[in-house]
Amino acid sequence: MSGTPGRNVSLRLHVNGRVREVEAPPDAPLLAVLRNDLGLNGPKYGCGLGECGACTVLVDGVAARSCVIPAGGVEGREITTLEGLGSLEAPHPVQQAFIDAQAAQCGYCLNGMILATVALLARHPRPTDAQARDALSHNLCRCGTHVEILRAVQRAAELAASGIRGGAG
Ligand code: FES
Repeated sequence: MSGTPGRNVSLRLHVNGRVREVEAPPDAPLLAVLRNDLGLNGPKYGCGLGECGACTVLVDGVAARSCVIPAGGVEGREITTLEGLGSLEAPHPVQQAFIDAQAAQCGYCLNGMILATVALLARHPRPTDAQARDALSHNLCRCGTHVEILRAVQRAAELAASGIRGGAG
């Protein structure tokens, strides 16, 4: 990365397995670059303060809040958004689990819940309820679907353990 913060520079971001080049200020929030420059609308804008989790992405497999990460700070790191997990035809096991558990109401928090669950299962393939609660405790859901979301985490662990992917395939 080079250039003065606040002015557009050329950034090379590794997103969902592809190298993407964008012109943006290096201090622009990663969330803004993903949504506005790359058209990746999985991560949502909630609080903009790193507190709600709606904007979660994975950076090198770790859940991170893209609203408070400068885009220039993650060049060369592997960024995964919701779009990088699976598709409608072939959902990722965690996405399938959230469908199976009917864990959505308004759906605004689900991006963060799903990506935090992916990161959790990478650390703990069969998480206890306490580990799941802890991993998701800073992802806010205003609809109150926490019970279904915790069921989805356990379902995701089952699906991942059995190698099952969703969809027709
Ligand atoms: Fe990033 Fe709330 S929008 S944590």
